[in-house]
Amino acid sequence: MKHPLFALVRGILPVCLALAACSETPTAATPQQFAVKVAKEVVKSDYQVPSVADVKGHSNEELIRYGGRLLNETKRLLPNNVGASMNCNSCHIANGKEQKGAPYVNANLTYPQKMPRAGKMVDLAMRINGCFQRSMNGKPLDVNSKEMQAMLAYMAWLSEGLPKKAKIDFDAGGKIDESLVPNPERGKLLYAQQCVSCHGDNGQGSKDARGNVVFPPLWGEESFNIGAGMARTYKAAAFLRDNMPMSVQKNGAWGQGGVLSDQDAVDIAEYFTHQPRPDFAGKVKDWPEGNKPKDARY
Ligand code: HEC
Ligand code: HEC
Repeated sequence: MKHPLFALVRGILPVCLALAACSETPTAATPQQFAVKVAKEVVKSDYQVPSVADVKGHSNEELIRYGGRLLNETKRLLPNNVGASMNCNSCHIANGKEQKGAPYVNANLTYPQKMPRAGKMVDLAMRINGCFQRSMNGKPLDVNSKEMQAMLAYMAWLSEGLPKKAKIDFDAGGKIDESLVPNPERGKLLYAQQCVSCHGDNGQGSKDARGNVVFPPLWGEESFNIGAGMARTYKAAAFLRDNMPMSVQKNGAWGQGGVLSDQDAVDIAEYFTHQPRPDFAGKVKDWPEGNKPKDARY
């Protein structure tokens, strides 16, 4: 028999996924404050992740809200640019506001930067288009389009008023011991216990009656392609450890991890990332200067 909590979560989650309002993470009652640093010097000690309500009356309100919607409902709103059955926020948890859930919070401050994968300077629009082509298995957006400008406006709003060289002291996670040896057989068993209920027996995820994404697919033709960061074992493992299984947690707020050990996460990640998924034609141009990460797929 399924745990009653499961039935509850199953009832609530799709509703929340459909309503942008619910995608605010239900964290502790007092909003968390973070230090902002330039080099190592604290220039502000009380940064708070802005809430959707704070956009009201902003001079750029319409564009910021549009950007937030596009990131949340990318597949539905941008079908020509999205090949996968995924939304940006399928991976960027809680509208990119969640620590360790691939947050967007520092994005506007930290680009342009040189990326080893591209072997050149990458600005934020290029970075977003990288996720369109790989994580969404789709096509880049025109940089001057209203849609790209809206996404950029949303990300800029998250760190509004901070100096360009600053960094919000957000623990974005992403680190896992790469000497752990993956065991995909064990990963397959853990997947059946911890993940199948939402992501399906064949990693296909699920959609609602209108065809909108409810649980995003983890592999197959409708998932991210082999060029995505999530296709790499250790990157995926850190994400799993810190965010999945969603809605189950031992400490902290909803979906903040604390269930899988590092070894569990590495085993499951090895299993699911290596299932069949779309290829990425642009892969031949990656890491032109070498320094390929250990878990690169090609
Ligand atoms: C399959 C999961 C997935 C999807 C879907 C996805 N991304 Fe990402 N995204 C990632 C990962 C993983 C990273 C890299 C984080 C890292 O380097 O540790 C990333 C990085 C980024 C960054 C850089 C953040 C930073 O601070 O360096 C931006 C911006 C971004 N994605 C935007 C988007 C947008 C916009 C979309 C939708 C068009 C999208 N992503 C879809 C997984 C995803
Ligand atoms: C209770 C449902 C639930 C369970 C159980 C669950 N997930 Fe998820 N998962 C989600 C949801 C929902 C999202 C999309 C994020 C969002 O909408 O906030 C997601 C997103 C993901 C993503 C990024 C998007 C993608 O499609 O690649 C990965 C990877 C992932 N889950 C892997 C796992 C793994 C592995 C497990 C088991 C350890 C697991 N999940 C268990 C609900 C669940």
